[in-house]
Amino acid sequence: MSLSALAGEVLKRCDLLATYSEEPGKITRRFPSVAMRQVHACLTGWMESADMSVRMDPAGNLIGHKKGTQLFSPDFLIGSHLDTVPDAGKYDGILGVLLGVAVVKALDGRRLPFGLDIIGFCEEEGIRFRAPYLGSLALSGRFDPRLLERTDPAGVSLADALRDFGLDPSRLGEAAYPAKKVFGYLETHIEQGPVLDTRNLRLGVVEAIVGQTRLWLRFEGKAGHAGTLPMELRQDALAAAAEFVLTVEQHARSVDGLRATVGSMAVAPGAVNVVPGSIRLSLDVRHRQDEIREEATAALLGQAAGIGRRRGVEFHADQSESFQAVPTDARLTGLLAAAVEATGHPFLRMVSGAGHDAAVMAALTPTTMLFVRSPGGISHHPDEAVRADDVLAALEVMVAFLDKVSGEW
Ligand code: HGY
Ligand code: MN
Ligand code: MN
Repeated sequence: MSLSALAGEVLKRCDLLATYSEEPGKITRRFPSVAMRQVHACLTGWMESADMSVRMDPAGNLIGHKKGTQLFSPDFLIGSHLDTVPDAGKYDGILGVLLGVAVVKALDGRRLPFGLDIIGFCEEEGIRFRAPYLGSLALSGRFDPRLLERTDPAGVSLADALRDFGLDPSRLGEAAYPAKKVFGYLETHIEQGPVLDTRNLRLGVVEAIVGQTRLWLRFEGKAGHAGTLPMELRQDALAAAAEFVLTVEQHARSVDGLRATVGSMAVAPGAVNVVPGSIRLSLDVRHRQDEIREEATAALLGQAAGIGRRRGVEFHADQSESFQAVPTDARLTGLLAAAVEATGHPFLRMVSGAGHDAAVMAALTPTTMLFVRSPGGISHHPDEAVRADDVLAALEVMVAFLDKVSGEW
């Protein structure tokens, strides 16, 4: 099959996998879920027809293996994630996994000296259990078993959800790859921002992934009657949160390169005629320099506490997860840039504002990323798109990259 036919097949396969969703008419695929099981079934068939052996690891990652000529050599990993945010686009995560399968098909029987693992990570977005990177944390041996007690909005624990998916939570540690078993990881992913598109470039080579802090906060006021409670006596939790959201926006606009977002809110009791008593909200803070991100997070938490005091509303920071900014591996990234140059596509070396499994995999093995243009910079939205010729360019680069890696073997 020609590379352009393989690229066309990748796009058709993205269309098909997009139909496996928890919400009709939208693309929402959390882990574990029936929709994820449908993706696994499809992907297993595609991997097997590319002459790969396929397994689901104890964490729920789907892994296709293509043997190399040197059976006991370490493997090279290519992958991305199979889960999505709610009402997502078709390409975030999925594109990188399907391009990995396409690369194996493009090798067309030519065996590299090393083996290839093509990995579909089970959970990167962290939507159902508010815990991102579950699959890559498990595979890189950094999964914190306390996460198994995390519950989803319906009160189901991650441990029980894994059992329902046919997995044994007590064996999660077995998903970890021994460091000597691998020698590198490549993730191809849509940029999810406007940088390449505004420069009319197809591809980006990622030099670093920004750090991020994810928090879950709460304002506890006092519910009351919307008709009888005078305004000056209210302890309105939603009004406090609303003031905080605008404070977050103002603060982020005042610090160069800072991104801060309140993306999720749950009001209680949530009735039209009740002054909101309590509210749970998320806060996502990112910056390429960890100290600026940490400073901004502390400042925002201080402002939230101040808003609570002024309004007679209690403020609580319930949960926080931080991921440091991660540089990609200089040697692999140099090989990737050389592969792009060899294919003649102009490109940009850049920093990723989005988090990726690559940021976690970098703790296990030398890691690099290839970005594909996001037309209009749209992502985490149903209008997320890719251009067929950009996907073909990415495939050309990935094949050239593997040739360069085996050339250095
Ligand atoms: O949040 C992120 O940056 C990624 O999409 N998980
Ligand atoms: Mn995403
Ligand atoms: Mn992603």
